[in-house]
Amino acid sequence: MSLLEVIGLRKNFGGIQAVRGFDIAIEERQIVCLIGPNGSGKTTIFNLITGLIPATAGRVIIDGRRDIIGRKPHAITAMGVARTFQNQRLFNHMTLLENVLVGCARSAKAGLASILLGLPGARAEKLQMIERARSLLALFGERLLPQADDLAGSLSYANRRRLEIARALATEPRLLLLDEPAAGMNPTESRELMTDILRVRDRGVAILLIEHDMTVVRGISDRVVALDYGVKIADGDFAEIRRHPKVIEAYLGRGTVDA
Ligand SMILES: Nc1ncnc2c1ncn2[C@@H]1O[C@H](COP(=O)(O)OP(=O)(O)OP(=O)(O)O)[C@@H](O)[C@H]1O
Ligand SMILES: [Mg+2]
Repeated sequence: MSLLEVIGLRKNFGGIQAVRGFDIAIEERQIVCLIGPNGSGKTTIFNLITGLIPATAGRVIIDGRRDIIGRKPHAITAMGVARTFQNQRLFNHMTLLENVLVGCARSAKAGLASILLGLPGARAEKLQMIERARSLLALFGERLLPQADDLAGSLSYANRRRLEIARALATEPRLLLLDEPAAGMNPTESRELMTDILRVRDRGVAILLIEHDMTVVRGISDRVVALDYGVKIADGDFAEIRRHPKVIEAYLGRGTVDA
């Protein structure tokens, strides 16, 4: 039984068929890369899986039994699916710790307001949450934890992307969706990102990531799924995908698949 199974997923935006019958299955602890030219429907697939936009048709099934199509984003988060965004959505005027606490609070009994206000009864839970948030920042070595009380807006670009991952992990997902996590990173940073992602997987999290950096794709993926015009054109390991005629054709003149 797959952790996530997507069957016949479709999305039309008016006359645009952004996703045209997409299928994918992801197993526990698997790292799957979703690649495809700009505008091929990758982010739309993330938006559909996480309930941000309604699907035109199709099913998204968790644990082989729960169809999450039509559910609200917070309900889908509660079922173990978390994500980061292509354009960052951190709270710049909150500290790193607070940004992660917002994620932790989604699973807290007391609710964020009473925790932040330090209401009685919420105190013990607050201390536990702070411990958990700090341990998530610590996942990234010395990159985030020493700056736990700084404002998120003061972080370097790469550290902001790391913080987004830490915040997504705070909801204790079993599946993490990362939308172009290496975008804008230099080669050293993206190499470090690869070990970060592998470490997250080793915590028992399956990862579906959209990525254009083929060094990253080759370095971490168990499987690669290629998309073009909203349709899956190939599914296999990196070596198969990079020499697949349809993948080469999709990228010709629109970028490269060089690694
Ligand atoms: N909210 C929306 N309304 C209308 N059209 C949309 C919307 N979101 C996406 N689209 C269109 O759907 C298609 C797929 O877009 P999407 O953002 O999923 O592509 P992508 O593969 O993530 O591209 P990129 O690599 O540039 O991030 C594009 O033609 C885009 O213009
Ligand atoms: Mg996108």
